[in-house]
Amino acid sequence: MAISWPGSTAPRVLGRPGSSTGWYPVARSTEVRTTPVPVGAAGRAYVVVRLQPGAEVTALSARCPHRLVPLASATVIDGRLRCPSHGWQFNVEGRCVGIPSLGADGTPPPRADLAVPWAVEERDGWVWLAPERTPLSRPPRLGGSTPVPEPVPGPPRPDGPVLGNLDPALEHGWHPVAPAGELVDGGYVQVRLLGRTWTVHRRDGVVDADPPAWGVAERHGLVWIAPAEPRDELLDVPETDDAHTTAAWLTPARGTAPAGLLADAFLDVVHAGRPPAADRQEVPPYEVTPEPGGFRSVHEERSGDPGGSPRRITYRFRAPFQLLLRVEEPDTGAVRTVLRVLQPEDADSTRVHTCLLLRGSGGAAVAPADVAAETALQEALIAEDLARTAAMDSAGLPLQLRDELHVPADRLGVALRRVLADLAADAAVAERTAALQRRLPA
Ligand code: FES
Repeated sequence: MAISWPGSTAPRVLGRPGSSTGWYPVARSTEVRTTPVPVGAAGRAYVVVRLQPGAEVTALSARCPHRLVPLASATVIDGRLRCPSHGWQFNVEGRCVGIPSLGADGTPPPRADLAVPWAVEERDGWVWLAPERTPLSRPPRLGGSTPVPEPVPGPPRPDGPVLGNLDPALEHGWHPVAPAGELVDGGYVQVRLLGRTWTVHRRDGVVDADPPAWGVAERHGLVWIAPAEPRDELLDVPETDDAHTTAAWLTPARGTAPAGLLADAFLDVVHAGRPPAADRQEVPPYEVTPEPGGFRSVHEERSGDPGGSPRRITYRFRAPFQLLLRVEEPDTGAVRTVLRVLQPEDADSTRVHTCLLLRGSGGAAVAPADVAAETALQEALIAEDLARTAAMDSAGLPLQLRDELHVPADRLGVALRRVLADLAADAAVAERTAALQRRLPA
């Protein structure tokens, strides 16, 4: 049954197993205020909320169509439900009525609307949902019984494939596994990568791994492992060889979200490199240029208010999880680069390695206080990304574009999905070819 009825007099209810018709009690009326409450009805996930104090209850599907963020963490502002991630706003009918990155004149696409149930009603102190049209126009009377709402369903899965941390395609890439400074000569470190434990040695200055890998390398201050022949080279970072640049490694962080989602968060132009909550702004059009194994995108903008100094912002990505953000100030010559590389340890564990590469005005050294301030800002941004991606409770980055809803501000995210989908497709072809060859007579 969709609900159970402790007590002797069960009222007539139309919710049945395998059916989405009927009325489903989902929450006590007093529990539903202006903070969304996740509920389930007929196996579907909704949030119920009052969009004004004391207003009628509104029920909306539980995930934002943009990046599938749970709307249980949304807030009510001016009679609308506002997704915390990029500020998309939904009215009482589920219609998307605001997408900040489109600007004030932007029109949300119809697919941005949220699904709503056929009816929502409060009766006998309970909120009831009818997901589909049902012959009974009102919920049944309780008659003194206490209904038990059905459990809140888990997150809906995308129809298409997702890239999780244990995807076989990731065997064919370079992965950071440890800061090079942790590995003294004659010593070793044990690391997790792609669900396995690896022991990395340094003997007579040579770095090696056990079990053996296709390649082990030291680059950009990190030790890297390529379990199988990598499809792409490591990202080149000219700043690491610049005598005028100060390098500062952050203490590695760790999150529960898959690396693909964390890469997507880094490339999110609404958030990236900006203090948290500075996300209510229009995103001007920009281009993404393919590069071998990844892409680059250059954005010209002005810092702060109109009239601020010009800045050139460059994003670079190299599969599977090498990311770079460079902010140049042409007027002063100052450059701030963030190199972030991700280590997919296990299905639910990703280690985040971040290096700041800072060059002061006119090539001058950056003051220690400025390095400390920049480090603190990056730590705050990483913590925000880790929390936001963990809350998505997702097994991986969706690779099928129609499983999410992309707007022009998401060009970097779309490019990321395409490159990683290509990586997965190439690996699948290679695996099929190898399987075929194994079956052929020697
Ligand atoms: S606005 Fe909801 S996930 Fe982007």
